[in-house]
Amino acid sequence: MECNPKPQICARQYNSNAENTDKSLLPRPMLSEGEILSAASMGQTVSCSALLAEQGHDVIGLEFSELATKSFFEEQHLNYTVSPVETIQGASVFKADDCQIQIYCCDFFAFTSAIAGQFDAVWDRHAFGAMLPKRRTQYSQNLMSLMKPDGNCLMMTAQYDATVMQGPPFNVRTELIQEFFGDRCDIRKIEQGDAMRDKWRAKGHKWFEWVLHHLSCKQ
Ligand SMILES: C[S@@+](CC[C@H](N)C(=O)[O-])C[C@H]1O[C@@H](n2cnc3c(N)ncnc32)[C@H](O)[C@@H]1O
Repeated sequence: MECNPKPQICARQYNSNAENTDKSLLPRPMLSEGEILSAASMGQTVSCSALLAEQGHDVIGLEFSELATKSFFEEQHLNYTVSPVETIQGASVFKADDCQIQIYCCDFFAFTSAIAGQFDAVWDRHAFGAMLPKRRTQYSQNLMSLMKPDGNCLMMTAQYDATVMQGPPFNVRTELIQEFFGDRCDIRKIEQGDAMRDKWRAKGHKWFEWVLHHLSCKQ
């Protein structure tokens, strides 16, 4: 797949809420067609997921919390049906009635390609960055197994002075992404911006940024 993401588009899109997002600003060059996996889909990831589905992509989200999953559908005013996922104990899949969006309410580590196949693109917004360090290897292995051989991933993480706090969210530098994904992906930092909030200031941070990396599978 030709990959030519436009950083300014990604930055604006990924920090917008559904209400004020210009729908022409979706990261089309990367997410040109096909199925998209939105890892740990709640929070602000939802606005992007909903817009991508609206544009005709098949979007599959993953979220552990049933409450958060239901909130997604309610906030997006989407009717949905719920069915059990036979192969994962206690898991269910929420399917929107009128658009191509599904959210698997289950543990990411139980979600394998046997369930919904492999994906053209992955949108990871503070999912890898929220993983405890001891789970990073398992996370990267599972994520890679969910991507098609020519798949690619946009990954948003946080960066800050790690002497101020340990996380989560964890301080994720390019080197860390390289460590866990570099053997299977070409990695590029494509955008970063200010993410300072009162809650980070209150913890003693002088700076706090979001960073967007593009990971494309080596073929
Ligand atoms: C840091 S939040 C990020 C939320 C959202 N992507 C955003 O950027 O606003 C992490 C989310 O991952 C979910 N989560 C954590 N561990 C998970 C797991 N093992 N499987 C599925 N979801 C998980 C949490 O319930 C939470 O909604």
